Amino acid sequence: AAAAPQGAGQPAPIAIAPAAPQEVTVLFGSQTGNSQKLAKKLSGKLQEQGVQVTTSAMIDFKPNTLKKIQHLLIIVSTHGEGDPPDNAISFYEFLHSKRAPQLEGMPFSVLALGDTSYELFCKTGQDFDQRLEELGGKRLAPRVDCDVDFEEPAVAWFKDVLAYFGQAQAAAQTSKTLDVSAAALEEQTSVYSRSNPFQADVLENLNLNGRGSEQETRHLELALENSGLNYEPGDSLGIYPQNHPRLVDELIEAMGWQPDELVFLPKSTEERPLKEALTSHCEITVLTKPLLEKLALLEPGNGLHDFLLSSDEQEIRAYMKGRDLLDLAQAYDWKGVSADTFIPLLRKMPPRLYSIASSMKAFPEEVHLTIRNVKYESYGRVRYGVCSTFVSERLESGQTVPVFVQENPNFKLPSNPDTPIIMIGPGTGVAPFRAFLGEREELGATGKTWLFYGDRHFSSDFLYQIEWQRWLKEGVLTRMDVAFSRDTDRKVYVQHRMLEKSKELFGWLEAGAAVYVCGDEKKMAHDVHAALLSIVKAEGGFGDEEAAAYLARMQQEKRYQRDVY
Ligand code: 2AM
Repeated sequence: AAAAPQGAGQPAPIAIAPAAPQEVTVLFGSQTGNSQKLAKKLSGKLQEQGVQVTTSAMIDFKPNTLKKIQHLLIIVSTHGEGDPPDNAISFYEFLHSKRAPQLEGMPFSVLALGDTSYELFCKTGQDFDQRLEELGGKRLAPRVDCDVDFEEPAVAWFKDVLAYFGQAQAAAQTSKTLDVSAAALEEQTSVYSRSNPFQADVLENLNLNGRGSEQETRHLELALENSGLNYEPGDSLGIYPQNHPRLVDELIEAMGWQPDELVFLPKSTEERPLKEALTSHCEITVLTKPLLEKLALLEPGNGLHDFLLSSDEQEIRAYMKGRDLLDLAQAYDWKGVSADTFIPLLRKMPPRLYSIASSMKAFPEEVHLTIRNVKYESYGRVRYGVCSTFVSERLESGQTVPVFVQENPNFKLPSNPDTPIIMIGPGTGVAPFRAFLGEREELGATGKTWLFYGDRHFSSDFLYQIEWQRWLKEGVLTRMDVAFSRDTDRKVYVQHRMLEKSKELFGWLEAGAAVYVCGDEKKMAHDVHAALLSIVKAEGGFGDEEAAAYLARMQQEKRYQRDVY
């Protein structure tokens, strides 16, 4: 409120100032973009209520300002084996270090995203929640842990949080504005979204691997015409696949059900014939502990209940690993259990995310994907990757497939097209780099580009070989180093090629290059990180800590980004 001028002889103004607006900081840690999307949505809702909101990725937040915060809201996913997402690591480490300040009653709340099929479900969110309490914070709303299908629990948490800030008035409003519809979470850029996917026409579906390859990698081209969907290089496409028809049939048979009986879909009031429900709407290839616990109550006498009671966490994990719903159907007697009671307990079919392999500037109204077939044996039965097998065996041109765009703000080309980029993407990890180079070609960008690519065999597994060669010739791609791991006695991987070019690579880093890594997380990305560290150490003359700080700084400056899975 504007204060009246304090003139001599005038009584001091008795300002009845309006209550100062409440301030809240919303911090997110996001790997695939879900937490970020939720954070933006929540911030918008808080602003509508007159709350002053500061929203930021954890990596962009200055930890020394933590003490000054009035209220803290955290939305964070858990990645890999209970790890924080890349853009949450520095804040996570700060908060768990001795440098973390006492928070003296600071109100906070945490929304945790995760997946119940992982042992350390929502671990990062739980850690934040516990640590903020240890530091003296007070929960303004209880933590909510979300499974893959995060919309509903997220909206429930939003309501709690909004109610805290707006109390009665807000509670009345939220029922209007939030509606508990998952659709309310979506950005309004297109009518099509995760909860309302677009039926995309299949234009092409080719095998990229040559004759004699042990692998099959599909190049899928889909039409986005009339969808209003847009994407940037680095974004992902979500696909809703169908389960293998044989698995569905065998499951129905083992349970003694009828394929055409009507059942309610999981978390839905819609009914569908059982076969369709199991094919398109339910997850049947993954067992989770919460699912086993629910199913055990349906038929307490069949032994599953006893197994859960008499087993520890590790034994239950070991049982679930490599098994699916058919194994469970065959191992226990479900004779008395109707499909109608069973199906609603399953998880909804989760979409699969693939890094987009095309630039929209190069292919308007299209999106391209690079999908490698997953097939393995477990407990005497061949198991199929749900989406990759669906795409390779049962998706033909002329058909449609439900898709949506998942923005990935953590994997973006530098805004300056002159900035050099180093791309490391073995196997299908090369997909987004086809998008990057397509984009840079269309932009006429002058920044240098360097691609490290690898796969098993030169002759049969060199994905998009002709395109890289054309880009090399035309100067869109400045350098390319390849590592074919199974053509020689000793394995060569992309990181070996990086180490061979240590000096030049460090030169690029010093010249401001941005580094991108895409592909396998556990092995490849970890080893590539180690290679980067040793390059920085050797060429920069740094010690361990300095080299780690060098890469952390690059990460902070968004010059080291990873899309790993
Ligand atoms: P391999 O399967 O012969 O071991 C794409 O999958 C390529 O990544 C393959 O050539 C594969 O080699 C390779 N790869 C496997 N493990 C890797 C690791 N730890 N680092 C880098 N590349 C790896």
